[in-house]
Amino acid sequence: IEAVFTPKVLEGKRVLITGGPTFEAIDPVRGITNLSSGKQAAAIAKAARNAGAEVTLVSGAVSARIPHGVRLIGVTGAQDMKSAVLQEAAHQHPDIFISVAAVCDFRVENPSAKKIKKEDSTETLTLTLVKNPDILQETAKSGLCRVCVGFAAESEDLVENGMKKLQKKGADLIVANHSSAIGQDSNRAYFITKAGAEALEEMSKEELAQRIILEASNILSQKTH
Ligand code: CTP
Ligand code: CA
Repeated sequence: IEAVFTPKVLEGKRVLITGGPTFEAIDPVRGITNLSSGKQAAAIAKAARNAGAEVTLVSGAVSARIPHGVRLIGVTGAQDMKSAVLQEAAHQHPDIFISVAAVCDFRVENPSAKKIKKEDSTETLTLTLVKNPDILQETAKSGLCRVCVGFAAESEDLVENGMKKLQKKGADLIVANHSSAIGQDSNRAYFITKAGAEALEEMSKEELAQRIILEASNILSQKTH
């Protein structure tokens, strides 16, 4: 039903989305990840599809249902996610890229090829972590996508931190939300663009997804005309 009533503002457009958590291996059976459910990315993929777009979702492992008609590329670590995104971006030249994934900021420097045995170590085990690439920033700076949208998960100073991320990453829109929204059903966010910040009321992830798609398509048409 909702698909029938959605204005087809993205007919013939391509939308590339990242979602879910990344998983950074420690050894073949363990890793570091986070509580991202993939719900917000699935809702955005669905809203983009309903708006008529051809949608590709590059996602870490999630329990959220992938909407019908959305092409899924499953990935594990941030490095795999980055290669998949840049490869897709180079191939399809998306009209809109939306970075929803909760990318682990760090990965294990030297993951073990074999399962780590507790007998082999003493009472402590030290892991060295190295910084992951910033997928949104690299994709935005690549110039392969016309409009780039990111999120900012913050525990404080949402607008100020969101503005900083907008500039640093070279995005067109940052959706700043409270970090406690991770894994929840609703979200209260700000839209941050170079024009300023707009506070949205608390809404479901589905509703927020539709608002993001509308905002991104407006930015796209401003860039086109
Ligand atoms: N992001 C990304 N690659 C990373 C880290 C983040 O693409 N390695 C993207 C996220 O998908 C999101 C945006 O960047 O769209 C902001 O993520 P966030 O975690 O809020 O910000 P960081 O830049 O990682 O900074 P910090 O976590 O220190 O606040
Ligand atoms: Ca981060």
